Amino acid sequence: MPKPQTNSASGVAARRLAVQALTRIDNDGAYANLVLPQLLERSTLDQRDRGLVTELVYGTTRMQRACDFLVDRFVLDDVEPQVRAALRLGAYQLHFMQTPAHAAVAATVGAVKGRGRSVVNAVLRRVSVTDVQWPSDAVRLSYPDWIADTLRDTLGSEAAIAAMEAMNRPAEVHTRADGYIQDPASQLVVETVEARADDRLLDLCAAPGGKATALTSTGALVVASDLRANRARLIARNAASTRTAVAVVIADGRHPPFASKTFDRILVDAPCSGLGSLGRRADARWRIDADAPERLADLQVELVRSAYDLLVPGGTLVYSVCTLTEPETLGVLDRVADLGLVLLDPPAAPWVPVGASGTSATVVRLLPGDVGDGPHDGMALWRARKPA
Ligand SMILES: C[S@@+](CC[C@H](N)C(=O)[O-])C[C@H]1O[C@@H](n2cnc3c(N)ncnc32)[C@H](O)[C@@H]1O
Repeated sequence: MPKPQTNSASGVAARRLAVQALTRIDNDGAYANLVLPQLLERSTLDQRDRGLVTELVYGTTRMQRACDFLVDRFVLDDVEPQVRAALRLGAYQLHFMQTPAHAAVAATVGAVKGRGRSVVNAVLRRVSVTDVQWPSDAVRLSYPDWIADTLRDTLGSEAAIAAMEAMNRPAEVHTRADGYIQDPASQLVVETVEARADDRLLDLCAAPGGKATALTSTGALVVASDLRANRARLIARNAASTRTAVAVVIADGRHPPFASKTFDRILVDAPCSGLGSLGRRADARWRIDADAPERLADLQVELVRSAYDLLVPGGTLVYSVCTLTEPETLGVLDRVADLGLVLLDPPAAPWVPVGASGTSATVVRLLPGDVGDGPHDGMALWRARKPA
């Protein structure tokens, strides 16, 4: 983490850029990972200040709900968007970056234009000297209630808190030998496919191609398919940069352009609510809606059904998601029970069975922070064979 700046001219300029980015994210619905690089590109800040702005914008966006709670104890009227952004930014530095109070307040006030300055100054001074009593873990850890509730109901209270804490730290990334940057948990999913040389292998939801490119190292013939053309282009680009041979197809996985019984192995790395990978994108938790798990489960069931048709008898299917919700994991498996899939033994540790016995023991998951040196995505998967 970059060292907090004092009230130097560059520290003020860094906060001014952060306020601009936060206002665009909150007011215009801009994506944090798109708007920030654009603003940084146009700025004259040095490398160190760019690092600071990045930490400020992603951190404040992630901790937005907690920051609002900290400042709203002292804000009496509605405030304009620029002032709201500065208040959150100041609270983030004071509470989560441990920036010395005088520096955090002065540099943040300096970044605000006009009459809003006095409000920011007065409120941040109060925040800096007042203890906090959090009303709930969801507010303290800055998640929408529905996500905190879903994780608690699915994982239990202690594990849900650990998962939410892990996803408040930037996710760890690993650079593969071929240069591709991939989450360690995604690499573990690739291993569970157990592909072999000359297998005809389909990755039905493949963009941006992280798993598909990794699967080529097994010698399998990999077809990587995705619904969206712009995302399929990313697969082609990543295959080229990793020098791997992947056949890229643009197709709706529910109506795939392949003959029945074509593939020995299929990976359905399905679109999902992403509740296991909230550490990866700072604004993701504020964009997903509470209906997403149920809505996406319908799509996931359709994708598994069409993958089943494409498998040769005796072929294997791996279903994986970077979420942990019941409807998108066990629920999908229950809803395709009529296919007569033969469930395979769950992969070994660090994967952990979701339940103690029966179907639930064949569904495994990794919680964010379970493996490796730092936070990584949470994932769930199950594996099955089409009867011969
Ligand atoms: C979890 S991501 C896949 C990540 C990829 N397997 C990797 O490791 O890089 C899910 C993908 O499913 C794609 N998708 C969504 N709906 C789809 C559909 N109906 N058919 C095929 N792909 C779909 C999305 O465009 C997205 O790229």
